[in-house]
Amino acid sequence: MYLSQQIAAHAVNQVLLGRNLTLALPTALAAFPQATPQQRGAAQDLSYGTLRFYGEVDAYLVQLLAKPLSDDRIHSILLVALYQLLHDKADAFTVVNQAVQAVSLLKRPAAKAWAKGLVNAILRNFLRQKETLASSLANNEMATYSYPQWWINKLKRQYPLHWQGMLLTGNTHPPMTLRVNRKKISLADYQQLLARQDIAATCLAGQALVLSKPVAVEKIPGFSDGVVSVQDYGAQLAAPLLDLKPGLRVLDACCAPGGKTGHILELGCTDLTALDADPSRLLRVQSNLARLQLPAQVIAGDAASSDWWDGVPFDRILADVPCTASGIVRRHVDIKWLRREADVASFVAQQARILPNLWRMLAKGGKLLYVSCSVFNEENQGQVDTFLQNNADATQLAVDSIAGADKLTQLNGQLIPSVAHDGFFYALLQKN
Ligand SMILES: C[S@@+](CC[C@H](N)C(=O)[O-])C[C@H]1O[C@@H](n2cnc3c(N)ncnc32)[C@H](O)[C@@H]1O
Repeated sequence: MYLSQQIAAHAVNQVLLGRNLTLALPTALAAFPQATPQQRGAAQDLSYGTLRFYGEVDAYLVQLLAKPLSDDRIHSILLVALYQLLHDKADAFTVVNQAVQAVSLLKRPAAKAWAKGLVNAILRNFLRQKETLASSLANNEMATYSYPQWWINKLKRQYPLHWQGMLLTGNTHPPMTLRVNRKKISLADYQQLLARQDIAATCLAGQALVLSKPVAVEKIPGFSDGVVSVQDYGAQLAAPLLDLKPGLRVLDACCAPGGKTGHILELGCTDLTALDADPSRLLRVQSNLARLQLPAQVIAGDAASSDWWDGVPFDRILADVPCTASGIVRRHVDIKWLRREADVASFVAQQARILPNLWRMLAKGGKLLYVSCSVFNEENQGQVDTFLQNNADATQLAVDSIAGADKLTQLNGQLIPSVAHDGFFYALLQKN
C-alpha cells in the first residue's frame, strides 16, 4: 500500500509545482510499473482526495512543522498521509508506517534515517494533538473549505446566499451521469437495460440517468455503439437550448472534446461545423463522432478569428468558451490550486475576443448560446452585460425554460452546482 502513497505523493507534488493532474497522475503511475491494478486505483483515489482537501491538510501540516520542509517529495508524502488520517477509513498506525516506508523508497533523500524519523514524529504528533490542532483552525476558511482564500472571498461576494453550499458541493464526489440518444432508445427502455446488467440508475428531470456508482465505460451497455454518452446533467442542458430545427446551419465554436457536439447531432442537426483551437483535442472529437456514428465538419481554428470561415452566416452558434472551470472542481480537483486570481481576468479577455467575433458570423434572427463551466460572474453574466452594452443588435433571452431546469437551482442562467450537476452558465442571445 505504501506504493500507492508514494505514487499519489508524486502526482500531488507535480500538481503543486503547476502541472495538471490529468497529466501528472499517468506520469506518476508510469514511474511505478510494479504497482498492481489495486494499488494504482488506490493511488488515484489518494491523489484526488489529497488535492480535494489540500487546503485543510496543508493547514494542519503548517502547524505541525517547525519550519518549511526543504524536500518537496517528503512534504507531499506527509500531505497524502494527513489526508488519509483526516478522511480515509484506513487504520491510523498503518498509514503512519506506510508513510515512513514511502520515504524509504525515495531516491536520494538527504538523510534517509533522519527523514523517516521526521515523518514518523510529525504524523504521530498529529494523532496526539488532533483536537487541539482542529480547534486552532476553526476560523481558518482555507482549512475549513479547502479553497484558496481569494476564491472563497469571490463566492461570498457574488453568492451571498449560496457560497457555502457551493464550496462544500465542490468537495464531493461527482456522479457518473449518462445522456441517452433518444433517437436510438427511450430513457425508460435504456434504464431497464441497465437494470438487467445490475447497474442502478435514477432518472434526473426526465432527461438524464445518474448511476448509483461509477462504472467503467466498457461495461455500459451500448456505449461503444453510441447509444449513450457520459455527460454531466448541467452540460446536457446546452444542446436543447439551441432550439434546433432541421436544415439549420450550426457552429459549435469551442467543441473539444465534443460532448455537446454529439448531443447537437443527436437532436437532428445535419449541418454542423465543429471548431476548436487545439488540434490534439480535436482527435477526441473525431473519436466521439465515430463512436456516435454521426458526421460533422471538424475544423482546427481560432474562434476569435475568421480565417477558417467561408463567410456564410450560421443560424445557431454554441460558444462553450474557455474559462476558469470553477464550476467543475468536483471533477478537476487540481483546478482550485492551479488557478491564480489573475487568471480570471485573462480568461475574461479571451472570452471577450471570442464572443464578438462569433457574433459577426451569426445570421439575423439567429441564436448564440454562450456557455461556461465557471461560477465566477466576470466570465458569465458580467461578460454578457459588457457584450450587450456594445452590441445593440443583441437581446438576451430568458433561459427559465431549460428543460427540467425548474427542478434545479439556477439564477438567471447560472446553475448553482449541486449533488446532481456541475456549475454551468448559460446565456442565450438572439440577433435582432
Ligand atoms: C470548455 S471546453 C469545451 C467543451 C466542449 N464544448 C464539450 O462540451 O465537450 C473549451 C474548449 O475551447 C477551446 N478553445 C480555447 N480557446 C479557443 C479559441 N480561441 N478558439 C477555439 N477554441 C478554443 C479549448 O481547446 C477547449 O477545447
